[in-house]
Amino acid sequence: MSEEVFRSPKKHGRIMVLLSGRGSNFMAIADAAAAGKIDAEIALVFSNKEDAPGLAAARDRGLPTLALSPKLFADKTEYDKAVVREAEARNIDLICLAGYMKVLTPDFCNAYKNRILNIHPALLPSFPGLHVQQQALDWGVRYSGCTVHFVSAEVDMGAIVLQAAVPVLHDDTADALAERILIEEHKIYPEAVKLFFDGRLEIRGRRVFIL
Ligand code: GRF
Repeated sequence: MSEEVFRSPKKHGRIMVLLSGRGSNFMAIADAAAAGKIDAEIALVFSNKEDAPGLAAARDRGLPTLALSPKLFADKTEYDKAVVREAEARNIDLICLAGYMKVLTPDFCNAYKNRILNIHPALLPSFPGLHVQQQALDWGVRYSGCTVHFVSAEVDMGAIVLQAAVPVLHDDTADALAERILIEEHKIYPEAVKLFFDGRLEIRGRRVFIL
């Protein structure tokens, strides 16, 4: 069976950011776009939480925002259908999950296959899920870090684009480690988005090649 190959488009792209919290990764991407380092614009900042600080930060920057409460929908499937409709209505090329605390339905993942990125604060496939800095401390790993990956229907399992390693210190706390990892997140997430719209990401099976 021949392997499926996807090549990211070289174009001026339209990004939709999905967030639920403070939005520091969103801001790193928005800063890079505003500075012309990424050939893309933030076409929508979306949240499942009306009061997410990241949404307020987006409004302060004059970016379009939208919040939809999951409570207004019958179930996850209907909710994600609505989110996909919002993306389609705006001709979104790439969806960036940035601290979005909802698992996407398989239908959502398939609708935007190879066009959803996420950032995770660990070196995947180690420590998927939540409380990952604490997991890293509990396991006594010497290095943790962060991963930008494409999103597939399996949580935290999509093809890896970029990673950055961060040493774990002997007296680390989960918060201290998270803070040091976040510094690297803000570097590799914009870089991954840049590579995407420079047409330099090629997905072959579960591997991403940087062209
Ligand atoms: C980051 O640690 C990211 O890796 C994880 O959620 C956190 C979001 O932080 N997915 P922020 O909202 O971008 O500041």
